[in-house]
Amino acid sequence: MSLRTVKVDLAGRGYEIAIGPKLLDRVGELARPLLARPKVVIVTDETVAPLYGSRLYQSFAKAGVEASIAVVPAGEASKEFDTFGQLMNALLEQKPDRKTTLVALGGGVVGDLTGFAASVLLRGVNFIQVPTTLLAQVDSSVGGKTGINTRHGKNLVGAFYQPRLVVADTDVLDSLTRRELLAGYAEVVKYGLIDDPEFFDWCESNGPALLAGDAAKRTYAIELSCRAKARIVAADERETTDLRALLNLGHTFGHALEAETGFGADLLHGEAVGAGMALAFDLSAQLGLCPAADAERVRRHLGAVGLPMRLRSIGGDNRRTWDSARLIEHMRGDKKAEAGRLTFILTRGIGRAFVTRDVEESALRRLLDGAIAA
Ligand SMILES: NC(=O)c1ccc[n+]([C@@H]2O[C@H](COP(=O)([O-])OP(=O)(O)OC[C@H]3O[C@@H](n4cnc5c(N)ncnc54)[C@H](O)[C@@H]3O)[C@@H](O)[C@H]2O)c1
Ligand SMILES: [Zn+2]
Repeated sequence: MSLRTVKVDLAGRGYEIAIGPKLLDRVGELARPLLARPKVVIVTDETVAPLYGSRLYQSFAKAGVEASIAVVPAGEASKEFDTFGQLMNALLEQKPDRKTTLVALGGGVVGDLTGFAASVLLRGVNFIQVPTTLLAQVDSSVGGKTGINTRHGKNLVGAFYQPRLVVADTDVLDSLTRRELLAGYAEVVKYGLIDDPEFFDWCESNGPALLAGDAAKRTYAIELSCRAKARIVAADERETTDLRALLNLGHTFGHALEAETGFGADLLHGEAVGAGMALAFDLSAQLGLCPAADAERVRRHLGAVGLPMRLRSIGGDNRRTWDSARLIEHMRGDKKAEAGRLTFILTRGIGRAFVTRDVEESALRRLLDGAIAA
């Protein structure tokens, strides 16, 4: 199957997303015309480096581009100041100049970290995203949000900084664990739930095959997701209106669940978003905004593919005691909360999401108490 491309339209800073199988070997060729100088530094993590580092390196060598590699540990901890500082020093040891390009090879962690490094290295160098998780291919590599974590919370230090190119090789998803793949799939389904009911229908029929490895269905879903995200980002790059906020469907709830489980392996981001989208639909149904049957359908599909839906099933052996007041506290701490007012993406049905800041705490508490007891 051939390469598909999606354009992100941003005046003067637009870029392309290339999607398809076997693209890792073509990154050098695709990137070459965009490089100010044929010199790149590939940033990747300890898990991805042995899997795909040398193929990416070779693709640059083949295109006549000098490449070196910097490796950070795998996992969210690499988005901390310490790793960021070490990475900046490692990058400077490569004697980059303003025309050097950074290449992020990895999941959202490597993408966010490398993008932020590119935004400040020598006051800004170009960067390219080569996302290797489904989550990164459909979400984090597109749109220009970059950043790192602090002890005050996730992604609180960062920049809007767009890549020059995104190359999503669908084959690299084969080495992901089922759990990581599913977590990314939750963000795929999100695009259907926001404003594309036909895509949600497609997910119901094709999601299982996509997850089982069907390459054509993967390419289709990644392309559609990138198109949806690109459209929203082009219209509202910096989330100054409510448009880009729609991408946070499921995220206010999801963030609270992640905060309560410590942002760790007990609950992956995409898993939290899956459970959070189900809660957002339930709340919408409870408030009489959305048909109960739609909320039921969302829960059924996400549960059927294997995403954790019941709060009591989350947390592995460490099952925790959920508490609605504590979850609401976490929501207030979310950076999307404005002056303590919670922002929710609610819905009038599948594909009909909207932003609201008018949810009564009593309704929220009732919903969460119900979900905890279920
Ligand atoms: N910038 C944005 O707009 C945005 C959006 C959503 C999420 N994020 C960020 O993305 C991060 C999560 O991203 P993620 O879910 O990709 O996590 P991740 O980058 O930690 O990757 C998950 C795990 O999979 C491994 N891995 C990556 N690719 C692999 C492959 N092809 N085969 C086998 N293993 C592979 C990684 O080494 C890691 O251990 C969070 O930090 C989140 O804040 C950013
Ligand atoms: Zn997300």
